[in-house]
Parts: sequence; C-alpha cells; structure tokens
Amino acid sequence: MGFALGPQAAGAGYRLMAFERIGSTNSEALARARAGEPGPLWLATAEQTAGRGRRERAWVAPRGNLAASILDVMDVKPGIAATLGFVAGLAVHAALREVCTLAPETPPPDFALKWPNDVLANGAKLVGILLEAEALPDGRLAVVAGIGVNVVAAPSDTPYPAASLASLGVAASAEAVFAALSDAWAEYRGIWDDGRGFAAIRVLWLKRAAGVGEAVSVRDGRGGIDGIFETIDNTGCMIVATSDGRRVPIAAGDVFFGTAASARAG
Ligand code: BTN
Repeated sequence: MGFALGPQAAGAGYRLMAFERIGSTNSEALARARAGEPGPLWLATAEQTAGRGRRERAWVAPRGNLAASILDVMDVKPGIAATLGFVAGLAVHAALREVCTLAPETPPPDFALKWPNDVLANGAKLVGILLEAEALPDGRLAVVAGIGVNVVAAPSDTPYPAASLASLGVAASAEAVFAALSDAWAEYRGIWDDGRGFAAIRVLWLKRAAGVGEAVSVRDGRGGIDGIFETIDNTGCMIVATSDGRRVPIAAGDVFFGTAASARAG
C-alpha cells in the first residue's frame, strides 16, 4: 500500500506528494516553496537518505519508518509560526492513539508530548519533529513541520532511550500512521487558526505533556538551566522554576527529566 491522505485531509484541500526515496522531505518542501508551491502540501517518503534532525543533527531511519513533512505558506510572524510545533506534536499523538485503536488486542503504550517537539512512548523517544521556516520574496512565511516516526525500528546510539512502534508491540504501518496524521493535522491546524487559537492548543498540549511539575534540566550549546518544569507560556516557551525563586522562560534546548536531569545537574 502506498501513502494516501486521510479523508478529512483530502476533504480540506490538502495535497500529497509521495516519494520512493528522497534526501529530506523538509529540504524538498522548502525548495518547492521557494519555487512557488503554495501549500498546504504533504510530502511523504518510503525512504529518506539525508534526513535532518533538530540542532543540525542527522536523522537516520530505515525503510518502514515514517518520514513526512507538511508545507504551509502563511502570513504570520516567525514567533507565531514556531508554535506550530505544538500542533505537530498533538497531531502525531492523536494519530498514534488512532492506529492503536485499529489493533485493540495490544494495550496502547503511554504516549506523551515532550517539550519542545518530541513524542514519547512509555518514556522513550518515538517521534522527532523538525520545524523550519523561511521568508519568501512576497513577505509570507513558508513553514515546514517534518515528522519522523520510528515505526519498525529505533536508533540505538542516542543519548536518550528510543523506541519504535514495533518494539512496543504495535503492528502499524508507516502508511497507516501517515493517513491518521494527515487527518489529525487538519483538525489541530484548524484549531491553531494561524496562531489565533494557540491558547486552546496550549491547554491541549499541556494535558498530554511529559514531566510537568518534575525536575528538569535544559541544555543548549552554551550551558543550561535546572529546576522544575512549571508550564509553557503563551508563546510556547518552557517555564522553569529555579531553586532561587526565578521563573525562567526557555525558548530552545534539549530536555532531560527526573534522574537524567539530576545526573546532568551534578
Ligand atoms: C529531531 O531531531 O528529533 C527531529 C527529527 C525530524 C525528522 C523528520 S523525518 C521527516 C523530516 N525530514 C527531515 O529531514 N527531518 C524531518
């Protein structure tokens, strides 16, 4: 079976380009936007040979895992577009729940959203999301949310535990996850409403979030901060409450929870 949009996505006017093999669905989406593609367009591939992750890391995935990007061209400020990462997290979370209902004999894993953009299954990374934006000559913004789901295999050389749907006993295909994802994206993108609905997205995201109220260590290239993950604010920043009573907004970084947070802090 090849990739196909779900019925809600198709009905809402989304289009799909499916590839057998491509370097990076995110790079292809941005190149098409530069060439005038108006979106909204999904790009999905059976195999990705130069996948890119956050913070310039490589994203390596075998055939059978899902690599897909949604391109949308919009008239919003970059800071507003950045909150689409939460839409992507919610959409993947819903899609994963949906494919689990198709195989009810297996108890579903505990899926949770990890700030800023990951989806965890039973505490291990199952999904990575790379959000990229580029200003177009007409002043609008091309925004690409690239989503990688470990369907058949997870990498073993990561600094955090990783899982695949197969390793969790969920026998879903990349095509089934993609169809559910495209429908869920259409729903949450509608709620987000070019950023006007971020307050509602924020509430939905926090309900599914991992580690709220727990010890957290957030690291970026220059250092980091340790404290308690209090909430996310109305711009999507993580709010970390520190032991000296500050509430520090964090815009980007790698997040470690619980014992991993104490180990990083030590
Ligand atoms: C991360 O570092 O966690 C984000 C990984 C994002 C990977 C996806 S796979 C589809 C899309 N195309 C890419 O090159 N990257 C994203």
